[in-house]
Amino acid sequence: MYRLAFIGFGVVGQGLAEILLEKKNVLKDCYGFEYLVVAVSDFNKGSAYSPDGLDLSTLLELAKQNKISEYPGARTGLDALNTIKETNADIVLEATYTDIETGEPAYSHFKAALESGKHLVTTNKGPTTLFFRELSDLAAKKDVRFLFEGTVLSGTPALNLCHLCLAGNDVTEIRGILNGTTNFILTNMEKGKSYEEALKEAQELGYAEAKPDADVEGWDALAKVVILAKSVMGADIGVGDVDRSGITGIKLQDIEQAKKEGKRWKLIGKVTKEGGSVRASVRPEKVELTDPLASVGGATNALTFVTDLMGEVTIVGAGAGKKETGFSLLSDLLSIHRMS
Ligand code: HSE
Repeated sequence: MYRLAFIGFGVVGQGLAEILLEKKNVLKDCYGFEYLVVAVSDFNKGSAYSPDGLDLSTLLELAKQNKISEYPGARTGLDALNTIKETNADIVLEATYTDIETGEPAYSHFKAALESGKHLVTTNKGPTTLFFRELSDLAAKKDVRFLFEGTVLSGTPALNLCHLCLAGNDVTEIRGILNGTTNFILTNMEKGKSYEEALKEAQELGYAEAKPDADVEGWDALAKVVILAKSVMGADIGVGDVDRSGITGIKLQDIEQAKKEGKRWKLIGKVTKEGGSVRASVRPEKVELTDPLASVGGATNALTFVTDLMGEVTIVGAGAGKKETGFSLLSDLLSIHRMS
């Protein structure tokens, strides 16, 4: 029986909570996975802790009204760090907001979880991008897992594909569409919409980051590129090593011109291994229509892995979404269970 603590209970945390409720019996009967949610701490919604477990339906109801602290009979008032350190959880699920400049406050949450000897499962790109090596070393030292499938392509198994299914291959290049908002904008510009109109629609649909620059200037894709470079290729690269440009310079006439050339604009994130070094970039590219990435439209993401044994392997799937990102946390929970 795994005891879980949610740090951050927004869309992603609630997405996992709904899945855990819906699949409780399947998880137990098919995978032997049983859980107890012992704590939730959310900056806006409040916190609740009960060492014997909290009821997920009640938590989801209270979360809607930002009243988790009114959970009957639970200990309340614990902040994120105290929830991590003082509760009896053995797995911490970190899904607070991403800050790509400092990684905080999630970085402190990550360190506290690992230092307390708790497994850490996260969708948070900030600390994973900035402090990957340090956090991986700390997890190894404490003999706990640090898993972050949801940081790249949400629950579409991009990292697990490499670490499990393609294990034994030398992955020499990874390239693809790592940001749904920009792909949605480019796809809609092809249909004749203006950049502004398409961005507004992406924001309304909930794909876009809180600050539009994170998507349209390529920062979100950059974070994912760095995570891929570090975790798949073992590269020692930082945010400043990535050659980055976004899609703000692409005009409707550029889209029309590409069409005439039998091509399509995509914001491509790329990591290439050559000799002992790794190069990484995020920039708009005109992709040939025969490239599998060209047919990936809307908010969908895709990655092509260039490998020595399998040639090119492309995976296409969701890069965001409540259920999809919630599922990424479940897939990491099941990985911990398989490794236990
Ligand atoms: N804003 C991101 C995107 C969300 O558009 O892909 C997932 O990281």
